[in-house]
Amino acid sequence: MSELVKLSVNGDEIEAEKGSLLIDSLLDRDIHIPHFCYHQALGKDGNCRMCMVEIEGQKRPQIACDTPIKDGMIVRTVGANIEKVRREILELQLINHPIDCPTCDQAGECKLQDYYMESGFYESRVQVDNKNHARKATELGNNVMLDQERCVLCTRCVRFCSDITGTNELGVINRADHSVIGTFPGRPLSNPYSMNVVDLCPVGALTSQDFRFQQRVWFLETFNAICNGCSRGCNITVDHRKEKYKDDQIFRFKPRANKEVNGWFICDEGRLSYKKENENRFVTPLINNTETELDKAITKTFKLLTEEKKNILFVLDPNLSLEEMKNTKSLSNVLKANITGYAPQYIDESFGDDYLKKNDRSANRAAYKHLDINEEKNDFDALIADASLVVILGNNYFDNNIDLLKDKKVISCFSHKCETISKSDVAIPMSSFYEKSGTYMNFSGIQQKVISKMKKNRPMESITSIIEHIKSIIDKGNL
Ligand code: SF4
Ligand code: SF4
Ligand code: FES
Repeated sequence: MSELVKLSVNGDEIEAEKGSLLIDSLLDRDIHIPHFCYHQALGKDGNCRMCMVEIEGQKRPQIACDTPIKDGMIVRTVGANIEKVRREILELQLINHPIDCPTCDQAGECKLQDYYMESGFYESRVQVDNKNHARKATELGNNVMLDQERCVLCTRCVRFCSDITGTNELGVINRADHSVIGTFPGRPLSNPYSMNVVDLCPVGALTSQDFRFQQRVWFLETFNAICNGCSRGCNITVDHRKEKYKDDQIFRFKPRANKEVNGWFICDEGRLSYKKENENRFVTPLINNTETELDKAITKTFKLLTEEKKNILFVLDPNLSLEEMKNTKSLSNVLKANITGYAPQYIDESFGDDYLKKNDRSANRAAYKHLDINEEKNDFDALIADASLVVILGNNYFDNNIDLLKDKKVISCFSHKCETISKSDVAIPMSSFYEKSGTYMNFSGIQQKVISKMKKNRPMESITSIIEHIKSIIDKGNL
């Protein structure tokens, strides 16, 4: 059992585990401690010296990332002495750094820029013409761009490829002030998690080929969500922006730390899956393939449900939220309809690995079990054969099995265009995964709540609101 001890940080008493790293206690409590090379996922390296703190009784400042906590320690992270030390280290870091901020894609989220704004502002003692130059805009594989001049040689990227992915594509090349980051000949940075080095890089040396120059980061708004690329449910932030006269658009996903689910990282495929959200959206309701208004589509839906009181089958999708599934289940009970969650199209045996990626490429299949929703093939085959009205909620299984809908009435709700829509008597556009709030259960049963902050682009409905609508009509006895 670990022993808790007391120490003082800037005059405040805190408790921490004896022998644990001082920097972790500071970071966990949001006590500001400048640092480049330390990262909680990668551990200490001690090369940047930015995390200097004063410790009473020690002659010289110490690096917090290599200082074990002792009982009664008195630590200062602020004050004239330690700030002078920090400024001098920063000045060394900046000797050969280019004057790139106005054109650098990292500006606004760069640690070097932030620390300079906090403690720099000195007259530069280096002539711009005397700086060492290195290669700019070098492709490291398909997804990451390197600017060697901007690098502070923290080696986070190198350690990610050696310690996390074990792929070892990156290394430090040359010596002293000619040291640069690079790949080995014939070995591009192309592992399935490569883009995490972009987030790890504290400066603008590594940027995402996909995101660079798309947006200035201070224009973006952010909310917390989960990735629906597979049943891991990695924690992410969604960066989006609604420009005047345009739809609210997602510009990037970034990983969010959750030690229980994904640690600090996400896979490249999940990260780039935001593009699907913006493309090929289904936006206008249809009745028999003719564009109509939402009210008319919902009225037609009521009508079909009234006419076909027998043999109604609801087909759920494993990307619907727990709330949407619950609501659909209760509506199907009221209507004495059948319900299935059959969706084999999301199982991709070539996708999973022994790190984060799972073969089930849907976000909420575990909720089926939780809500006792059947997803067996045999049951589905029997139910679809019997059904006269099929209500399809986001499940695109029928795109490749369209004959199953022959001679049946079909109501469908989709966020993106697909083949099934053209076979539907009524098709209602619904909010996409990131446009709605809801709860999702990952493969190991962890429930995660997402509250979307996307601005509505058009009168889209979530399944829950469509169903609430229908239930209120039923409650009034109109069905
Ligand atoms: S490229 Fe970025 S992450 Fe890699 S060593 Fe340089 S500053 Fe650090
Ligand atoms: S591992 Fe799965 S949930 Fe995580 S980012 Fe990749 S696709 Fe998304
Ligand atoms: S973060 Fe401590 S030396 Fe770099």
